[in-house]
Amino acid sequence: MITSLSYVGFNSPNVAAWPEFAQSVLGLEVAEPGPDGAVRLRVDDAAARITIHPADTNDLAYIGWSVAGPAPLEAAVGELERHGLRVDRGDAQLAQLRAVADLVWFTDPFGFRHELSWGLLTRPSSFRPGRSMSGFVTGAGGLGHVVLFMPDLERAERFYTEVLGLSLSDRVEGGMHLRFFHCNQRHHSLAFAAVPGMVGMHHLMLEVASLDDVGIALDLCQERDIPISMGLGHHTNDRMTSFYVRTPSGFEIEYGWGGLLVDDDENWVVGSYDSGSVWGHKRPANAPPPGIIRPFKPQ
Ligand SMILES: [Fe+2]
Repeated sequence: MITSLSYVGFNSPNVAAWPEFAQSVLGLEVAEPGPDGAVRLRVDDAAARITIHPADTNDLAYIGWSVAGPAPLEAAVGELERHGLRVDRGDAQLAQLRAVADLVWFTDPFGFRHELSWGLLTRPSSFRPGRSMSGFVTGAGGLGHVVLFMPDLERAERFYTEVLGLSLSDRVEGGMHLRFFHCNQRHHSLAFAAVPGMVGMHHLMLEVASLDDVGIALDLCQERDIPISMGLGHHTNDRMTSFYVRTPSGFEIEYGWGGLLVDDDENWVVGSYDSGSVWGHKRPANAPPPGIIRPFKPQ
């Protein structure tokens, strides 16, 4: 059903802080402003992949997933409705705001809004990073990955595998309980961390093309006193070398390099780990509490 993580939207009262942070620290490109006051950010040749919408509070607004075209979109609608979900059609105005040809959206049992679309507007050879860097790893692997806080891992796993068709990559059962899911060669496009009674957004991962890009971003954060929520480290399962920076909107961005590819999905063996990291990813003493989190209210 889903081919990749396509785009992500956030609500935030702190939209004005994003252009400087996104360009000069992360190396993203700020797209032309739209009619809605949102800041749209480019990671590659797609028109925009990260949008920060003006709002009173910080929150994850929507997760945008790609499907392969009009027929797969209709098939996805049928599958979602068969599972009892209400699916709304995006109109032409919403499609234009998201820079896609067509989209639908629904709310999952945990309150997260998901948008399914095809035809993300792309302008080949047009991406210009906000600072000197090697660029971001996207393509068939999509934007990156999103990690959510979930009140019930088993229920979340059932929903996302049976209804959305994601495949379990592996799990971590250590201090935290985590599940990781893929829909293409990227090791995971979505993961969950269990937090009983709570729901929320921990981080968005962006993968860069060079380890030096990670080190330079880390230097820039430290020079500018931008809070690091987890220091440099190496993940056990997706082999990403990364650090986590607090964004101006209360969630983290994992900025990483060297992620593992699921190169043979048919023969993928689901792994199990007792730690998320081989080394590093330590929380500094003054690190802010991670992510945007709130009590879970069943839908
Ligand atoms: Fe991550």
